[in-house]
Amino acid sequence: MSEEKVTTDIITLTRHVLDEQRKHKEASGDLTLLLNAVQLGCKFVATNVRKARLLNLVGLAGGAVNISGDEQKKLDVISNEIFINALRSSGKVAVMVSEEDEEAIIVEDEMKGNYCVVFDPLDGSSNIDAGVNVGTIFGIYRIKDGSNGTISDVLRPGYDMVVAGYCMYGSSANMVISLGNGVNGYTLDNAIGEFILTHPNIQIPKRGKIYSVNEGNAKYWDEPCTEYFQSLKFPPDGKNPYSARYIGSMVADVHRTLLYGGIFAYPADKKSKNGKLRMLYECFPMAFLTEQAGGKAITGKERVLDITPKNIHDRCPIFLGSKDDVEDIENIYKKHS
Ligand code: AHG
Ligand code: MN
Ligand code: MN
Ligand code: MN
Repeated sequence: MSEEKVTTDIITLTRHVLDEQRKHKEASGDLTLLLNAVQLGCKFVATNVRKARLLNLVGLAGGAVNISGDEQKKLDVISNEIFINALRSSGKVAVMVSEEDEEAIIVEDEMKGNYCVVFDPLDGSSNIDAGVNVGTIFGIYRIKDGSNGTISDVLRPGYDMVVAGYCMYGSSANMVISLGNGVNGYTLDNAIGEFILTHPNIQIPKRGKIYSVNEGNAKYWDEPCTEYFQSLKFPPDGKNPYSARYIGSMVADVHRTLLYGGIFAYPADKKSKNGKLRMLYECFPMAFLTEQAGGKAITGKERVLDITPKNIHDRCPIFLGSKDDVEDIENIYKKHS
């Protein structure tokens, strides 16, 4: 029987980030330290999500509602506090935007750094009580030259981000991240507390066979949307229909789309004219990752990363995934314009 080869040279996320830092002679190491704080946040949230049922951490946080109108779960609030504390104590952050805080957090001068972090501390929290995968989504901007960190440093197009990523909490904790040079996936080894490289250089298939959208909104869709999804279910010339997969946690639906291909969408509709998903800490990071993995992300009419938010909780419609699939819906919108 062949000997199981013991890995003695593991590649951790920290090692990968240091490799990236070494490519830039002028790098200060600040981003490396900031990403360590993000990793700490994700590891801490992962343990709380895993123990949630045991510690009675599921359920609502006393009926509180966030600025988006979402009922806050206990884990939304705890995850939010974990991230704010981890990011602030890194000393590398000037501005934070969280789904769970109405206002941007401007870090006090003595702890202020050169980066802005926008994050959704717990994505898919409506699923948490059912034990379905949830996650944390984050995007990082470097503050603008000459700025000492104000809200104008985050009201910027998504293409200005320098890092985007998510950590999905399921059977294991999977971190998927891009520093602007492709996308890598890491799995948390709980025994040593390190994210180990398991999905190097993620490339989304050029076309997939899965569509992922909440069909419960079909009554409210616009014509191009209706025509597009109808064409996937009743394809012309005898092609096979696409499969439908919708988990309802953006992190889980996007993770599957990156790995398997196809399309994920939260369209604008008659009920929500800008869709439901928030630009800064859901659409931008997922669009950044999708493009870095060779896919596309549009609102229907324009590239998601080209938009500039007016307010920190602005929403935008999103169709993201395999290049050919997104271009199909893009062409239908063009045909109807
Ligand atoms: P969050 O839990 O951070 O508020 O995000 C929920 C989002 C996203 O995770 C998911 O794609 C979408 O809500 C699902 O919305 P519907 O239930 O309307 O389909
Ligand atoms: Mn929410
Ligand atoms: Mn979310
Ligand atoms: Mn959330």
